Amino acid sequence: MTIQQQIQAAETRITKLVFPHDANPLGTLYGGNALHWMDEVAFLTATRFTRRQVVTVSMDRVDFQVPIETGSIVEIVGHVTRVGTTSVTVEVKIYVEDPRSGEQQQAITGTLVMVAVDETMRPVKIESATSTR
Ligand SMILES: CC(C)(COP(=O)(O)OP(=O)(O)OC[C@H]1O[C@@H](n2cnc3c(N)ncnc32)[C@H](O)[C@@H]1OP(=O)(O)O)[C@@H](O)C(=O)NCCC(=O)NCCS
Repeated sequence: MTIQQQIQAAETRITKLVFPHDANPLGTLYGGNALHWMDEVAFLTATRFTRRQVVTVSMDRVDFQVPIETGSIVEIVGHVTRVGTTSVTVEVKIYVEDPRSGEQQQAITGTLVMVAVDETMRPVKIESATSTR
């Protein structure tokens, strides 16, 4: 397996409906819920890539570009963008989808670093494909 195939196989997508209990008083998605979903997708993506126990060590800049109305369909997508020695960087994007046309618009983006750890929470080396073809 090439590194690109390993990255592709780890890509994770979760589709959700935005309920009123996910919203802020303005009726749009509460940022804290978005961060929760992004961490969940990054965790799943990094787990699939490393096949190790992983923890979040960093959540970098998160941009909220478009408000997401209650009742919207959202898709949260995680993609590995960097492979380190014990860590992987996962870019997470949240798309809002028009239920009628299916058209998607990027609404939130962020970057998380996930570290592979052993049972004593010590970082461990990630096995990754070395071939790039
Ligand atoms: C994750 C943890 C075990 C890393 O320990 P550490 O002593 O920082 O380990 P290291 O210095 O060896 O760094 C391990 C990797 O994390 C990366 N890293 C550490 N801190 C980082 C940060 N703030 N931002 C980005 N990457 C970071 C290092 O660059 C290294 O990556 P590499 O091996 O790919 O080069 C430790 O910080 C920890 O336990 N954090 C709490 C995790 C947690 O509770 N998360 C929330 C629940 S999942």
